[in-house]
Amino acid sequence: MLLGPPGSGKGTQGPVVARHLGVPYVATGDLLRREVESGSDLGRRVAAVLDRGDLVDDDVMVDLLAGAVGHSDSSGYVLDGFPRTLAQAESIERPGAPVPAPEAVVHLALPDAVVRSRLAGRAGDQSRTDDADPAVVERRLQVYDEQTAPLLDHYRRRGVLVTVDAGRPVDDVTAAILAVLPGGPSG
Ligand code: AP5
Repeated sequence: MLLGPPGSGKGTQGPVVARHLGVPYVATGDLLRREVESGSDLGRRVAAVLDRGDLVDDDVMVDLLAGAVGHSDSSGYVLDGFPRTLAQAESIERPGAPVPAPEAVVHLALPDAVVRSRLAGRAGDQSRTDDADPAVVERRLQVYDEQTAPLLDHYRRRGVLVTVDAGRPVDDVTAAILAVLPGGPSG
């Protein structure tokens, strides 16, 4: 599981780590953006939430995740963007959950100033309207601090949290993640 503020590199690192581990990569932000593109009723409701920088409801997210992994027979995944609240974390700790509780939670640590500059750099990307408005970026940072950062303690208490400095060059961050995964040189 990759946990970190917006722009910390979850979407950059996730596919690489998944390839390394030979498991599917599942990014809830991508699932939501696909839902928006589909033009469904849910997609229209989700678009408004994404445009504000808020979180989509826990129940919707749990169903979306279950739908995305429902046809997979993989025993493991690299998750990017889920869970983002304590309720979501608890939803995958129950018997019969769609994915197993995480073996490793990689915290991609990045100062807010670097987040702002990375997202400003990506703001021209049409697929990410939530990067274009600095007020929405601030809201995403606030939501991360208030609702997602508490998960760090949750996973620290479970003994699965490892923190990686996400401010280094991409390849260095990849190497640091692979090194701390279970079975890696220092994991
Ligand atoms: P999501 O798509 O998950 O967005 P996010 O968390 O805001 O993260 P980003 O995708 O912006 O950044 P990232 O950490 O993936 O970094 P990236 O690799 O792209 O979620 C979007 C929205 O969906 C949320 O705001 C919420 O509304 C909703 N949502 C999603 N999951 C949800 C859930 N579970 N519950 C409720 N709502 C949910 O990199 C960013 C930029 O930096 C790129 O340009 C990249 O090239 C660059 N970069 C990456 N690494 C480096 C590096 N090491 N050095 C220099 N540049 C780098």
